Amino acid sequence: MKITSKELREIWLNFYKEKGHVDIGAVSLIGDGTTGVMFNVAGMQPLMPYLLGEKHPKGTRLCNVQGCVRTVDIESVGDSSHCTFFEMMGNWSLGDYFKKEKTAWTFELLTKVFGLDKNKICSTVFAGNESAPRDEETAGYLKELGILPENIFYQGKEDNWWELEGTVGTPCGPDNEWFYPLTDEKCCDTCDINCKCRRYVEIGNDVYMQYERLENGYKPLSNKNVDTGFGFERMLMFLNGVKDVYVTDLFSPVISHLESALGVKYGENEEVTKSMRIIADHIRTSVMLIGDVNGIVPSNVGAGYILRRIMRRAIRHAKKINLNLNEIINVAKIFIEKIYDEAYPLLLEKEDYVLAEIQKEMDKFNKALEQGLKEFDKVIFGIERHKEFAKSKGEEVKNEIGGKAAFRLYDTFGFPLELTIEMAQERGYSVDEEGFKAAFEEHQAKSKAVDKGAFKSGLAEESEQTTKYHTATHLLNAALKVVFGNDCHQMGSNITAERLRFDFPCDHKLTTEEIAKLEELVNGWIGQKIDVTKEEMAKQKAVEIGAEHQFIERYPDIVTVYSIGNVSKEICTGPHVANTGDLGKFVIKKEESSSSGVRRIKAVLE
Ligand code: ALA
Repeated sequence: MKITSKELREIWLNFYKEKGHVDIGAVSLIGDGTTGVMFNVAGMQPLMPYLLGEKHPKGTRLCNVQGCVRTVDIESVGDSSHCTFFEMMGNWSLGDYFKKEKTAWTFELLTKVFGLDKNKICSTVFAGNESAPRDEETAGYLKELGILPENIFYQGKEDNWWELEGTVGTPCGPDNEWFYPLTDEKCCDTCDINCKCRRYVEIGNDVYMQYERLENGYKPLSNKNVDTGFGFERMLMFLNGVKDVYVTDLFSPVISHLESALGVKYGENEEVTKSMRIIADHIRTSVMLIGDVNGIVPSNVGAGYILRRIMRRAIRHAKKINLNLNEIINVAKIFIEKIYDEAYPLLLEKEDYVLAEIQKEMDKFNKALEQGLKEFDKVIFGIERHKEFAKSKGEEVKNEIGGKAAFRLYDTFGFPLELTIEMAQERGYSVDEEGFKAAFEEHQAKSKAVDKGAFKSGLAEESEQTTKYHTATHLLNAALKVVFGNDCHQMGSNITAERLRFDFPCDHKLTTEEIAKLEELVNGWIGQKIDVTKEEMAKQKAVEIGAEHQFIERYPDIVTVYSIGNVSKEICTGPHVANTGDLGKFVIKKEESSSSGVRRIKAVLE
């Protein structure tokens, strides 16, 4: 490797720190219920309120490397570059510097730090429309920096305007994208950045966020912001001169492991290679989602359902290529222990929990497969009966499994279409593949709408409610320490507008007395109407005063500590209510095992 992922992370952060930026660290991958989106889909997403004008506690120049999860393209995973989890290297100006500085810094990073040839760099700017002017300003700076005029392209909204699709009330604006050719060999006379030979890679973009998206059109923001996003995986590939993300060090230890487990070389057989990639990508995402600070587990609703689909797809592919399922656990271990041990140390802390959740899902899926086989028999039986009935009326029915039934087998029981077709053939049946495709597309359109987050109406109410649950979570965390001792730390938390969910280490089912005691403590503090205060301090000081934290290395140097009187102190980004008296009555609705040695509480505020 010419450059390792670890080096790239450091280079990015150090470069922008030297330019006065504060590393704000990465936030949870899981939407906290306040933005309406399920997963964090872009580096800018957690910063939305600040891009819209709210003051950020860490200042006006920020940077980080932020994990993101996008599942809309899940069916493309298996090729050499699509991933469901990826990281975005970002930096932001919140009404601070603008186009002149930003173009100069990106140029400096590309040419001085990464050693790219300025004569080969191509850059695209916004051509202008009725909403915003042609970006001559950026083009002017690019030329001054030495980018060849013939390498500057003006493009329309479809290429050079960035906004979170399908949203209103969000920041957006024209962008300046950066391209570089992978080779000097042109495929034809007109080979340029838009050529379908894909000689040029888009390596990143600088968005000049100066508008707010309205229902119909755009309104200028009071601040002129910069939002930069450079895909971490893509940049790593590019800088190493490879076109396959799975040969970078973010995946190569996993791929090597799979190669020896299977006795097949990566790249040797197309189908096996595809399955190897799917297993690697999907298990990486599963590890990240379960091991997140607000970790989720597979379920049949919302984000948990997406996680379930991802995991089952990985398991299915493992079965398909005859990979022993124990290897799935080994793959997860490699991500946790060898690849992300430094960048995501929380994964190491939660390793047993993450592995146990993966194992549980594998066991469940094996059962689902059995049920799926029964379901398949039922489908065939139903058609046979229908055939008889139709025959009695002189009609004929084809030996064909309908598209909807095939899709149900796929979606609910995890049967790949190929498997259904194969089993159908054995019974002298065919499958309506077109119908399957239609059912699939209908479903995909629905889940796209969910993924995009459909910034729900009633958002304000929901935020108020989730804010209350955030504070209640701190109180519960404090109460658990009273009941189970100071070593009882949060292992996972998830908040919706309806409830809080909290995982913590405990080796037994909670007794009625313990549950009653927890409720009594939390409600006692609510009754005392204690003020919730917020203070910024050096990370070291926060540790010294005993502020609760998850994994100290992950936090920036200056942290926010929320205190609830003498009851609780936690490093947290908030938001929280001003006084515990605002919370209502705390009731534990459910207590259950989450995995071995970990209990889970679900509680509501009434
Ligand atoms: N928000 C921009 C992106 O996601 C930087 O690409």
